[in-house]
Amino acid sequence: MEESLVLVLIFTLVGITSALSFYGDSVSFLPLQKNSDGTFEVSFYHRQNGRSSCQEQSSLTCESGVCTSFDQSSVLQTDQDNTGQGRWCQSEQLTTATVSTNKYLSLRNSSCCWLSNIEGTTNWTSYAELDLGIRSDSNTLNHCPVTTTVSSLRVPQNCFSSMHLLAYDPDGDEVRCSFSPNATIPANFALNEVGCTLTSTGQVSTGVHVFELILEDFPTQNITLTYTDGTSAFLEAFEFSTPLCKVKLQFAVEILPPIPSCEAGHVQPMFLSITPSHGEILHATVNQTLEINIQAQAHHSIINDFQVSGPENMTKVFTYGISGKADVTLSWTPQQSDLSRVVPLCFTAETNDTQSEMRCVAVIVNQASVSQGKVSVECLANKMSVLIDKASIPGIDVNFLQLRDPSCSLMSNETYIMGSISFSTCGTKLEDKGDFIAFINEIHSFELPSTIITRRKRIKIDFSCLFPKTISISTYYSLHNSDYIFTESNFGSFGYTFDIFVNDSFTTVVDPSAYPVQVELMQMIYMGIQAQSDLPKVTLFVDSCKATPDDNPNNPLHYDLIKNGCNQDETLTIYQPNQTTFNFGVGAFKFTGNYNEVYITCTVILCQTGDPFSRCSQGCLKNPTRRRRRAVGMETDRHDITQGPLQIVQQAVPNAAVNDNRSVMKKGDLSATVKSPPENPSPVVQVTKSSGEGWNIKEMICTNISATVFASAFLMSVVVMAVIVRYFRRQRKAEDQKALIANSGM
Ligand SMILES: *[C@@H]1O[C@H](CO)[C@@H](O)[C@H](O)[C@H]1NC(C)=O
Ligand SMILES: *[C@@H]1O[C@H](CO)[C@@H](O)[C@H](O)[C@H]1NC(C)=O
Ligand SMILES: *[C@@H]1O[C@H](CO)[C@@H](O)[C@H](O)[C@H]1NC(C)=O
Ligand SMILES: *[C@@H]1O[C@H](CO)[C@@H](O)[C@H](O)[C@H]1NC(C)=O
Ligand SMILES: *[C@@H]1O[C@H](CO)[C@@H](O)[C@H](O)[C@H]1NC(C)=O
Ligand SMILES: *[C@@H]1O[C@H](CO)[C@@H](O)[C@H](O)[C@H]1NC(C)=O
Ligand SMILES: *[C@@H]1O[C@H](CO)[C@@H](O)[C@H](O)[C@H]1NC(C)=O
Ligand SMILES: *[C@@H]1O[C@H](CO)[C@@H](O)[C@H](O)[C@H]1NC(C)=O
Ligand SMILES: *[C@@H]1O[C@H](CO)[C@@H](O)[C@H](O)[C@H]1NC(C)=O
Ligand SMILES: *[C@@H]1O[C@H](CO)[C@@H](O)[C@H](O)[C@H]1NC(C)=O
Ligand SMILES: *[C@@H]1O[C@H](CO)[C@@H](O)[C@H](O)[C@H]1NC(C)=O
Repeated sequence: MEESLVLVLIFTLVGITSALSFYGDSVSFLPLQKNSDGTFEVSFYHRQNGRSSCQEQSSLTCESGVCTSFDQSSVLQTDQDNTGQGRWCQSEQLTTATVSTNKYLSLRNSSCCWLSNIEGTTNWTSYAELDLGIRSDSNTLNHCPVTTTVSSLRVPQNCFSSMHLLAYDPDGDEVRCSFSPNATIPANFALNEVGCTLTSTGQVSTGVHVFELILEDFPTQNITLTYTDGTSAFLEAFEFSTPLCKVKLQFAVEILPPIPSCEAGHVQPMFLSITPSHGEILHATVNQTLEINIQAQAHHSIINDFQVSGPENMTKVFTYGISGKADVTLSWTPQQSDLSRVVPLCFTAETNDTQSEMRCVAVIVNQASVSQGKVSVECLANKMSVLIDKASIPGIDVNFLQLRDPSCSLMSNETYIMGSISFSTCGTKLEDKGDFIAFINEIHSFELPSTIITRRKRIKIDFSCLFPKTISISTYYSLHNSDYIFTESNFGSFGYTFDIFVNDSFTTVVDPSAYPVQVELMQMIYMGIQAQSDLPKVTLFVDSCKATPDDNPNNPLHYDLIKNGCNQDETLTIYQPNQTTFNFGVGAFKFTGNYNEVYITCTVILCQTGDPFSRCSQGCLKNPTRRRRRAVGMETDRHDITQGPLQIVQQAVPNAAVNDNRSVMKKGDLSATVKSPPENPSPVVQVTKSSGEGWNIKEMICTNISATVFASAFLMSVVVMAVIVRYFRRQRKAEDQKALIANSGM
């Protein structure tokens, strides 16, 4: 009886409140102003999320009655679902308050009704707390961290691993994110408090989860805060106990049923390279229109809109492109009142069934346009060179410029500032831009820690090298010899050559112009793999080599030459002249049955030389542990490189061994069945043998088998297995999508 009563009550509550469901919100402050009478002017934009309707907004109000005036603009809808499905909308309201207090200001609103969610959380609280002291480092009031999210976040269950949130601090303070102490944390969700990234620690359950986060900023140098009443407070650098400001961020994430593939660009839209990166800082100028271009692609679904959390009066123009692409251009013209405002902006690409990752940027509104330094960047295989025309950045002191990693130095002469930066050092970060891989660094000005005033202009020059994921080999002149080129974050771009050599001195490559190449059965084939990397200390490791009758290295019909670093074939001889070269010789063979091609595929790894935990240091593993975890940064992913096809033409009468004048051929009655070489031999690279070394036949001779028995055995093998390798050509696999995005560390 009691149970049913409770049920009825709950249903009634849901019935009443569903119309007023809360979907999350964020608050961003304009720079606080101190009035001459000691009061403060506090203005903030409050963005609130909705679904089909966005007219209802809660308003944050000042606690303890410290607000003497409180002006609220009308609520403006900033974005809505243009496909008419009412999946999201967002509104923004500007509030300007005059505040009479001397130390802290808290703003709050709370109510009962989060949208219904798995955890059953109902009460929500919007909250911000500001310290009103003047900072000794900037001589101004503190700026709160800037954040927001789009209104509706939807991620398929099997695709949720992390979600990057915006946590930008205009003062350069350290921002820490945490779950609100009062909030229920949904199971298997965790928060990386430094990067402000929501992650999963296990499988997350489908349905709606709501999140209440608090962002706090902490100074990175010792500062003193001075209050209007003359008192002051000392804040120690990186002492994460007393925040300068606390702002709350609330949002809902709907975990959708799993989808077959989480690969970005498949069903899930993937942002392409023109799209700003997450966390990027954009500069806008008062009275000038800022345009932000966003492009996404999904090959197996239709992108029908972009969700945007942006400022009022931002326009959004959507266009469909070819091959599953879609673009949106956002335009916004900041007004005088927006000066010095830092506007959070987040966006996602939407399909009916899912959504891209969310990306967020911060837009800083300046009075005059930010001067753009003239920079030229040259991208090489493993490094980039940057050249800045000094005339384009007047008033900049070279001695106060640094790269992301300050320990890397820049050079300069009278006209230029120069830097040569390896992709794996100097703080260069790698970013997967969907269609491109980008290596990003920056040159920025810095101040000495003791400086109280500055007369130098501040500058930040971002530069990057973009490499298409589908690599055109001609792009890489210094790797132009490589048959295979890969790019990974810790190793930059590196290449492998895979060649056939004429003999075991491994000096002369079988000349591709001399095609077709004849290789005789059981004759040794000499092949060499060489790794090319600009990094000084790398070691090449050949984990496996196998032969297949076609170019599918996973063909179940295969023959292992090397497996898990262990030699599997008795004819195999390995020569390793140095750490980046692996040469080997193997007796020629053919697959039995109607196969006339052989491909050799080797799986190769590059390691940092001397790392005792790398795969390279382990050598042959008889019982490799499955799913060995790769030591991050110490070795590359495994890459397959293939040589072939060796097209084998079995002739009715073999002409193998004809040119061999060794006495064994003259024994018995074999000569009658062996035809003379063709009158006009096609261009042939004769794989010459010196002293018979490496021939299996030699070994057989030494085993004392009678000449006749040997001779007929030899003839049979010639008839059955003689190989004439023709149409030898190199096969280049220019792309390896998996490899290219591997180890991106994102
Ligand atoms: C919260 O906002 C609503 C809507 O503006 C308002 O009616 C309510 O009074 C506010 N509550 C508090 C505690 O300020
Ligand atoms: C939600 O808020 C109401 C009213 O403020 C309070 O009575 C109730 O205990 C709160 N519920 C939870 C779960 O905190
Ligand atoms: C958490 O709850 C306590 C007591 O209910 C309240 O005083 C405090 O303000 C809440 N904190 C936040 C961040 O909402
Ligand atoms: C910051 O303050 C702490 C505590 O007073 C002191 O130990 C530290 O040396 C100071 N750091 C700097 C950079 O002044
Ligand atoms: C922006 O335009 C307004 C109106 O045209 C003008 O009053 C204001 O001075 C302009 N501001 C800047 C920074 O150009
Ligand atoms: C947006 O546009 C409306 C109408 O043109 C205008 O009244 C309002 O001030 C604008 N808001 C902002 C933030 O520019
Ligand atoms: C998306 O859903 C809408 C409304 O249900 C429908 O009209 C539209 O055709 C759907 N689009 C696709 C690509 O499925
Ligand atoms: C400065 O260096 C650049 C790049 O190396 C070079 O092109 C230029 O001629 C140099 N200028 C002077 C004045 O040495
Ligand atoms: C290997 O071939 C090269 C070029 O044909 C030749 O100069 C060299 O002497 C040969 N070396 C051996 C060991 O046969
Ligand atoms: C390794 O040996 C090969 C062939 O002998 C040579 O071409 C290459 O330059 C050598 N590499 C290093 C790093 O010594
Ligand atoms: C036969 O081979 C031997 C050694 O391999 C060589 O000295 C001799 O010149 C060869 N004869 C002919 C006709 O090629």
